[in-house]
Amino acid sequence: MDATTGSTTTVTVTGAGGQIGYALLFRIASGAMLGPDRPVRLRLLEIPQGLASAEGTALELQDGAFPLLRGVDVTDDPRTAFEGASIALLVGARPRTAGMERGDLLAANAGIFGPQGAALNAVAADDVQVLVVGNPANTNALIAAASAPDIPAERFAALTRLDHDRALAQLAVALDAPVADIHGVTIWGNHSATQFPDVAHATVAGRPVPDALAERLGGADAARAWLDDVFIPRVAQRGAEIIRVRGSSSAASAANAAISHVRDAVHGTEWTSAALVSHGEYDVPEGLVCSFPVTSDGDGYRVIEGLELDERGRRRLDASVAELVAERDAVRALGVI
Ligand code: NAD
Ligand code: LMR
Repeated sequence: MDATTGSTTTVTVTGAGGQIGYALLFRIASGAMLGPDRPVRLRLLEIPQGLASAEGTALELQDGAFPLLRGVDVTDDPRTAFEGASIALLVGARPRTAGMERGDLLAANAGIFGPQGAALNAVAADDVQVLVVGNPANTNALIAAASAPDIPAERFAALTRLDHDRALAQLAVALDAPVADIHGVTIWGNHSATQFPDVAHATVAGRPVPDALAERLGGADAARAWLDDVFIPRVAQRGAEIIRVRGSSSAASAANAAISHVRDAVHGTEWTSAALVSHGEYDVPEGLVCSFPVTSDGDGYRVIEGLELDERGRRRLDASVAELVAERDAVRALGVI
């Protein structure tokens, strides 16, 4: 059978004219996200100032002559963009600019993610799955989900897979082990500097990571100090490090993480991390979009429950959750949710 004859999936990407969009769209068109047997139609949403860039990307997508690509539409109208979408990647967001307070940033993004959630609610496919990449990703996802009452909250996620992958990569270097040998890492909380990258349940080639670190670093205290003073801040502040070194925020790695997130949601995966709408798991207040350990059987992500958090881990998770609560309350005060 011709591998490209399956039914066509509509994938909408917002902020498609930006740098993540440029790193993302060609890989979706190639089949890297949904698989080699799933034709895709791409809908690119931009604001008027970004349309020319998105249109140029659409021309290049055409020039790629991707066998799976069944069309590219560019628009600045959310309802046109989300019509029939089964996958929506919400990348476009208002960046923080000089003089902007946190509240201003939340208000500006509420003005984007509220209407986009409402448009998704009105015109997306019944099976739509939504991944929010644009920052502040967790709270933007919360706003979009709250604005789409007919779409089950489980279908909304915010991207913390990049943080997860950053954690794997740092451990691989520290343990001199292949990334593929490391399992059971968790990013808890917000996609921000308060996040908690946790290795308490992680293994390397089947062995507990804390033990392997203690052996390499000269004891359990040295391993603990490395985790607290090097690993956690490095992962949690990696986005800022990339901005400092590169001069702009992570793009190809973020696009790669978004591809991995969706691929694993629809094809299934063992343990990874994603920010989902809380149902009260791990005492995270219901409704917050919080990063958890998750697994997928190919029908979206589910939180892995029942893990023990020690006192230090609990404190770290609580601090990140407190930040999420503050963001939610600021958005509530604006009357957005
Ligand atoms: P970018 O500035 O290069 O592109 C963003 C694009 O979004 C621009 O072309 C802009 O015109 C467009 N846009 C703005 N408002 C829009 C709207 N209402 N509708 C449609 N498009 C809109 O930025 P980027 O580097 O592509 O990053 C995009 C976002 O992703 C940023 O918020 C960034 O902080 C975030 N990000 C998140 C992660 C993560 O792990 N969650 C990682 C990296 C970047
Ligand atoms: C990242 O993690 O790279 C992005 O969210 C950008 C940032 O501001 O950290």
